Amino acid sequence: MSDASDSLQQLLAFDSQHIWHPYAAMPNPVETFLVEKAEGVMLTLKDGRELIDGMSSWWAAIHGYNHPVLNEAIKSQLDKMAHVMFGGLTHEPAIKLCKTLVEITPEPLQKVFLSDSGSVSVEVAIKMALQYWLSQGKAEKHRLLTLKGGYHGDTFATMAVCDPVNGMHHLFDKVLTQHLFAEAPSCFYAGTDGNDNWHASHLDNLKDMLQQHHHEVAAVILEPIVQGTGGMNFYAPKFLQGIRELCDEFDVLLILDEIATGFGRTGKLFGCNHSDSPERNKEFSPDILCLGKTLTAGYMTLAATLCTDKVANGISQGEVPVLMHGPTYMGNPLACTVANTSIELLLQQKWQANIKRIEQGLIEGLQSAKEIKDVADVRVLGAIGVIELEQPVDMKTIQPMFVENGIWIRPFGKLVYTMPPYITDNRTLSLLCQKINNVLESYL
Ligand SMILES: Cc1ncc(COP(=O)(O)O)c(C=O)c1O
Repeated sequence: MSDASDSLQQLLAFDSQHIWHPYAAMPNPVETFLVEKAEGVMLTLKDGRELIDGMSSWWAAIHGYNHPVLNEAIKSQLDKMAHVMFGGLTHEPAIKLCKTLVEITPEPLQKVFLSDSGSVSVEVAIKMALQYWLSQGKAEKHRLLTLKGGYHGDTFATMAVCDPVNGMHHLFDKVLTQHLFAEAPSCFYAGTDGNDNWHASHLDNLKDMLQQHHHEVAAVILEPIVQGTGGMNFYAPKFLQGIRELCDEFDVLLILDEIATGFGRTGKLFGCNHSDSPERNKEFSPDILCLGKTLTAGYMTLAATLCTDKVANGISQGEVPVLMHGPTYMGNPLACTVANTSIELLLQQKWQANIKRIEQGLIEGLQSAKEIKDVADVRVLGAIGVIELEQPVDMKTIQPMFVENGIWIRPFGKLVYTMPPYITDNRTLSLLCQKINNVLESYL
């Protein structure tokens, strides 16, 4: 048994021998770092080293760590109740959260299903789409159409719509549902002030596939504006608008996975708010929308799937007139409370100007990386800064280099990227970028 007197080495030895980490081997041969505390934008390791956090704990901790207002919200909710089942019972934190989500997302989205994680919220979205078509007597509409280069989670239904090459298809080929994959968007987006290379022909492949398969397609599912884990690609809003129009034309539902893009990360509150005109923004809505990650600002695991009246009514008029899902920790009051407080904190700030400030800091801070040998591309959108290399990084080598340089950056594949907490000040942001560049210069 481990106790408080265990040395750092003993703790890490137990960790590497017994505890699975994300996408890790067992025993884990890759160095893991023990965090003692996290405050603001700093992570403090057990050995005393301090790291500037460039990851927001996988893009979630937008207000930084140990935030007094968020802490206080959880503490006061804890004194009332930590959890109650959501079957047959409800509570104010969940009602308040769902009311807010209905208010701040596109108007047609009126119904909310709360769940435990991003992957589960996508599972629920898929289930909603399938149940909707079943209730319409169209059982043949059971497939999904998605984009290459996408990522939607690690559970089985979500893996089946992740990128077919870089996802886990080859490993679980025999059990994954076979869906349809259109080409990834190649219409690069440089943000609201920048250019894109949009042309209507970018939608040709998707249109062809819909033309051929619409009778069996329940929904198109994709990440709006940014394909995250699948490659950190930013694509033009017109591509998304075009997909909405095609979904209407071919009578398939549109599911947007905003788990990574939600709550300001791309410079708009949601990825689906990027549009060339306010009118179009007002009109634009998916049929189903998934939120997670930033929803609780990295405090607790919680996700939400929203849908339109049309989808909800369709399901409720079906042969099985209930949505067949109900997690034990559904609508956890602590998580709902911290989500409510986080959204309030975000919306009461000049958050758009703040994201612009971070975007500018990332553009200035990362541009010199373009000069480094073997850097293929540097791109920035909102509070997302990406350096794409020619070759995948060797994590065993590069991860400790970031830590030695006092920053927490977790690359994957060819991508070294940062999504800093929104509270990162200009000085710290510039230091973070400088250190990323320094590490890459020595590494490459
Ligand atoms: C777009 C997108 N969808 C779904 C997920 C899965 O979320 P979770 O890890 O909370 O299950 C992620 C996680 O990175 C994501 O980026």
